[in-house]
Parts: sequence; structure tokens; C-alpha cells
Amino acid sequence: MKIVSTVEEVRRQVEEWRQQGLTIGLVPTMGYLHEGHASLIDRSVSENDRTVVSDFVNPMQFGPTEDLQTYPRDLAHDAALVEAHGGDLIFHPEPAEMYHEGFSSFVDMTVLTEELCGLSRPVHFRGVCTVVTKLFNIVQPDTAYFGKKDAQQLAVIRHMVDDLNMNLRIVGCPIVREEDGLAKSSRNTYLSPEERQAALVLSQAIRLGSDMVRQGTTECAAVIQAMSDHIAAQPLARIDYVKIVDAATMQPIPVIDRPALCAIAVYIGKTRLIDNFFTEDV
Ligand code: PAJ
Repeated sequence: MKIVSTVEEVRRQVEEWRQQGLTIGLVPTMGYLHEGHASLIDRSVSENDRTVVSDFVNPMQFGPTEDLQTYPRDLAHDAALVEAHGGDLIFHPEPAEMYHEGFSSFVDMTVLTEELCGLSRPVHFRGVCTVVTKLFNIVQPDTAYFGKKDAQQLAVIRHMVDDLNMNLRIVGCPIVREEDGLAKSSRNTYLSPEERQAALVLSQAIRLGSDMVRQGTTECAAVIQAMSDHIAAQPLARIDYVKIVDAATMQPIPVIDRPALCAIAVYIGKTRLIDNFFTEDV
């Protein structure tokens, strides 16, 4: 397993693998890797000859009041995890390597990015689309792996690949959770013990909503109300949104009459956490 920090080093390695006829999987991450990330690496390793993991806290996708400065980082831990899971290369660039002076090109998207997290994080998806496009161009993978944990991000990437004729396959992987249900996230490290306990309302609400859908409820308002009531009963929780949207367009729907995504974002203290379920998975 190798760690490189420049685009040129990645290009050289990838070129060598291509000449050997090897297939390449890419797992884009912001580091501080946990078992959620590991599940994507496992999937890539099982489906490709070589796996590249990018490890880059992308400044462009953070808003001015967000947690760019405090976002946790630990390259030694990440390297050990990637190695243990059979990854071959970590790309760990400095911001200046990705965004040189005078950088002025962006990949942006309408519609899908205007709902859910796009409402409270207006510059977020432009930053995600731009950095992911750069990573696709640098690594030129056959397949890239994303988690359903960030369901809107997954939909946005799929849509971008389709809109812009990008020549790779996108695979979405299931949410990995802690034993008590909390979806694994690098941001869980921000939680105090009391907040960590309170954060269980997210996965509990997801369970509640998915049970209702499985049992046949199709009225979105009823599902949203039950989930919101459950979260509101936790004093440390503040709802950003609880929504049900068309899984392809991310636009809110009144009735579950097509593949849909139920997504929530909740502040626990100062930490914003997300969780979701796809109606097709219930
Ligand atoms: P990051 O939050 O590090 O997540 C990297 C990938 O791991 C994403 O595809 C995310 O959905 C997936 N992931 C995170 N937690 C997961 C969990 N509990 N179960 C399954 N998958 C999980 O998402 C980003 O970074 C960035 O926006 C990025 C795409 C790298 C662009 O900067």
C-alpha cells in the first residue's frame, strides 16, 4: 500500500496498472476512516484488481460557518485501515495540489441539489461535484464507490455521471451502523457522551418510518409526522429536515407511489447528523 500526495504520482501509478490491463476502483473519502468507509473499500477490492482511496478534506464543499477547521484528521490511522482492507493506494493531496492559484472552474447542478442538504448547505454540492469530477479525471477508475449514508450525494453523483457522459460505473453501498443503530460518521467524534446517547433518535426515527412504510403507509405526511414527533421529544435534538422525496429527482412527493428516499438531518447540540432509508430497501 502506497501513500502519494501529488496528481502526477497517481497518474504514473494508474498508468502502470492500465498497461498491465488491471481494473481500478476508486473510493473517495475525506479521511478519518471508519467501518462505513471500510465497507466501500471491501466492495471495491472484491470487484477490482486495484483500489485507490482518496483521503482529502475538501475545503470547497464546506460553507463559511461549517466545520472545515475542526474536521477530524488521522492519516496514520487511515493508512492502517486501508492496508488492512486490501486497498493499494491512498491519494492524500494538500488543498493547493487540488486547487492551484487561479483555480476557477466548477461543476454545478440544479434541481437535485436544491432540496434536503442543499437548502441548509448552499455551496456543498458544487464543492462535491467539482472535487469528485477532479478525482474521476485524475484516477480514471472503472468504478467508484459511494455510501447510501449520503443518499443525496449518491443521487447527485449518479446524475452528474449521466448528464456529463462520464465513463465509469457508480456503485451505492448500504449504510453501516454502530451496534445501537447510530449511522457511522466521522462527525460522531464531535458528540459528548450525553449527545451520543441523544443521537440515537435519528436511527430510531428511521426505524419508525421504515416500519410504517413496510406496513403499507403511503401518506408521506403521516410518516414525516411520526418521525418528527419522535425526534422532537429529545431535548438535545433540533430538526433541520425530515422529508420524503422522489429517489431520482430529490423533489418532495405527497404519496409514496414510486421509489422514494426518506431523509433526515438533525442537530444534536452543534453537530449536524444525517440518516435515511430508501423505500425500496424497507
Ligand atoms: P466522507 O464523509 O468521508 O464519506 C466518504 C464515503 O463514505 C461517502 O460515499 C459516504 O457516503 C460513505 N460513508 C460514510 N459513512 C458511511 C456509513 N456509515 N455507511 C456507508 N457508507 C458511508 O462523502 C464524502 O466524504 C465527501 O463528500 C466526498 C464524496 C469524499 C467528496 O469530498
